[in-house]
Amino acid sequence: MSQQFVLTRRRVLQAVAGALAASHVHPVFAADPVRIGLILPLTGPFASTGRQIEAACRLYMQKNGDSFAGQKIDLLVRDDTGIAPETTKRIAQELVVRDKVQILAGFGLTPLALAAAPVATESKVPMVVMAAATSIIPTKSPYIVRTGFTLPQVTGPIADWAGKNRIKTVVTLVTDYAPGLDAESTFVKRFTASGGKIVDSLRVPLRNADYGPFIQRAKDAKPDALFVFVPSGEGSAVMKQFSDRGLKDAGIQMIGTGDVVDDDLLESMGAIAVGVVTSFHYSAAHDSPENKAYVDAFMKANTGMRPNFHSVGGYDGMHLIYEALKKTGGDANGDKLLEAMKGMRWMSPRGPLSIDPVTRDAVQTVYIRKVEMVNGKPWSVEFDKVENIKDPGVG
Ligand code: PHB
Repeated sequence: MSQQFVLTRRRVLQAVAGALAASHVHPVFAADPVRIGLILPLTGPFASTGRQIEAACRLYMQKNGDSFAGQKIDLLVRDDTGIAPETTKRIAQELVVRDKVQILAGFGLTPLALAAAPVATESKVPMVVMAAATSIIPTKSPYIVRTGFTLPQVTGPIADWAGKNRIKTVVTLVTDYAPGLDAESTFVKRFTASGGKIVDSLRVPLRNADYGPFIQRAKDAKPDALFVFVPSGEGSAVMKQFSDRGLKDAGIQMIGTGDVVDDDLLESMGAIAVGVVTSFHYSAAHDSPENKAYVDAFMKANTGMRPNFHSVGGYDGMHLIYEALKKTGGDANGDKLLEAMKGMRWMSPRGPLSIDPVTRDAVQTVYIRKVEMVNGKPWSVEFDKVENIKDPGVG
């Protein structure tokens, strides 16, 4: 090969690479795998979220294959430790620039999703938010689509339920960061609108929370009910204080969003969780053929681990990606994928689910559930529901 040819070829390649970089186009050739960068907290205090979502994504691929239309799907899983937004952002950048992923997914907590949003916008790579649940997240990039839920969406129904069920006074207790503030303001607005009274509003730090003093303060205020939002992973500590300090015996009803009775922890909480009433988009006890098949397969593949709400955010996120790729004929161009995702609807293990074509957020049924012992184990058993709930925002 002549020196001249090598130089010319190199220049052509450089020109192509430059043009591609300038136009933000990711070249997709038939034989190229589609790469999904899954960023999750796999270590640290929120590792259960990552473990649940990774297991669900792998289960989806196991059931639906890791290739279609001649194209392989590669899942690149990265641990962001759950507590450092700048780490999540750096990993997102590396996945896009170095590993050439065409889709970003995961995002265990709100600050992490917010940190990665500009990367999705700049690279025009769709970002499927499977867990983080603050209302505003999809407004932070036109490339964000959410398959999980929002706090205002799941908080409204329990506030309405409390108002209709002889609960007149409530203390709210939330984790002091964006999703907690969404839950608090939604609960206060909806509960007071139906004539209820908020006696006190308590906010607990996100890191290394000591719930004891807060639960004691709630007990001393003698409300009819204590409304709780804490992120997945924290429920056991709250429940222990609620039990140890005798709030149940004092006649205080615990209500909340379903995060506090997270299915990942519920079994280990045991009988102390019985009677807690929450509203949420997913219970592992949801009575449908789709969910029975999901729970059975998930537990079999994960040595008996019960799937939680974050897991269905992951499972449905993979479904959304697969179906969008089917619609584009395997073309992983970001804008085409995003168009294909908007308005998609399907039957999830949680019930009917769709992606609002305008807000790119999950629209779903929210169930009212009560923890009951079934065959010796605690489950959140659904007894009422509100269908087709969109994120109402916090306004
Ligand atoms: C969030 O940070 O957005 C988040 C995390 C865990 C939850 C709910 C919300 O259970």
